[in-house]
Amino acid sequence: MANSSSTQLAHRLDEVGFSDIVQIRNKVLALRKAGHAVWGLHGGEPFFDTPQLIKLAMTDALAANHTRYAPSSGVEPLRAALTTKLQQRNKIPCQEEHVILTAGGAHALYSAFQCVLDPGDDVLVFSPYWTPIRDLITGAQARPLLVPTTSARRTGLLKALENYATENTRAIYYNTPQNPSGVVFSRAEAEEVAAFARERDLIVIADEAYEDLVYDGEHFSIASLPGMFERTITTYTFSKSFGMTGWRIGYAVAPEPYMTGLRKLVLYSINGVSTPTQYAAMAALALPHQFHADRLADYRKRRDLLLAGLLDLGFKCDPPAGAFYAFADCSHIHKDSRKAAEILLDQAYTAAIPGVVFGAQGEGHLRFGYATTIEQIEGALDAMKKAKL
Ligand SMILES: Cc1ncc(COP(=O)(O)O)c(C=O)c1O
Repeated sequence: MANSSSTQLAHRLDEVGFSDIVQIRNKVLALRKAGHAVWGLHGGEPFFDTPQLIKLAMTDALAANHTRYAPSSGVEPLRAALTTKLQQRNKIPCQEEHVILTAGGAHALYSAFQCVLDPGDDVLVFSPYWTPIRDLITGAQARPLLVPTTSARRTGLLKALENYATENTRAIYYNTPQNPSGVVFSRAEAEEVAAFARERDLIVIADEAYEDLVYDGEHFSIASLPGMFERTITTYTFSKSFGMTGWRIGYAVAPEPYMTGLRKLVLYSINGVSTPTQYAAMAALALPHQFHADRLADYRKRRDLLLAGLLDLGFKCDPPAGAFYAFADCSHIHKDSRKAAEILLDQAYTAAIPGVVFGAQGEGHLRFGYATTIEQIEGALDAMKKAKL
């Protein structure tokens, strides 16, 4: 289909939207500018600053003039360190040539979808899902097929995937721990998804952005299962684990032919992650296990505080097993989650994200992020109580 005028965008962007989350963030900024204290539970950014050691590694890299073009897939010592991490921690049977650096997890996912999807392909997506996933899929001129997570977990994932798959299904997006639900899929669930992918010859795009944030159960990488590395692109980010959201660095691990596709996409989109940032990432990887254990304890404290407060206020909410969001049923405030979010913001100056922005299966819910300070969580709970919500 040709464009009809110079003022028209490429048609493949027609179905691609801007995230509603940005609109809510803007409303919060406007309220704060008008002098209101807004309790911010709408975000998805770690509460802590990037650790000093990582910042120092960046300045050391600058002093040592690591400021030139690097190989577009990433500098060799970082790819080597990531390979060791992926082999030991994630049990993914990869080698250095299977690892590529990206500008955050979002760019790894963009590249993954672009490199395997053709126009007309379908992708199975457990829903509610992280909002940009729909846009990343439609931007590749493919279609998301939403599989309701709650009922799928009741009937078994394999059966649910069978029900929703079409003849055009090419891939499964598999996010664990999940944003927004906090669901952590078990090893047995990964095995079901893997069995389905092998049976139908599908590709799995595994998003493990929150791998370090699991409170109940254990993180399990689907690409570690027999026969799965061959058909999986797994994506990661430094954003959540290390408080590095603004640095824009992540990575993907995949075999051929996907790696060739990923290399082309990274080359022609960014031509590699900034070189000094990669040196900083090496320092992040070298942080001791205790760093993650301490952060996890901090998050657990916030999760327990928020969950107890929400239940006390009359919300219904399963304890989130991972990530840093509570996905609470808000039907006692309003069944329409956009209206419920508006009521919360107007009457208790508390910002949460309407569940419907994460897919129809999220309607009737609000996403509360607890990656913030204890004061923000306590302030929000107190304000909701006072507003009698
Ligand atoms: C499920 C999920 N995947 C990937 C990302 C990507 O994060 P980034 O692009 O900051 O690395 C996010 C960030 O919110 C996320 O929630």
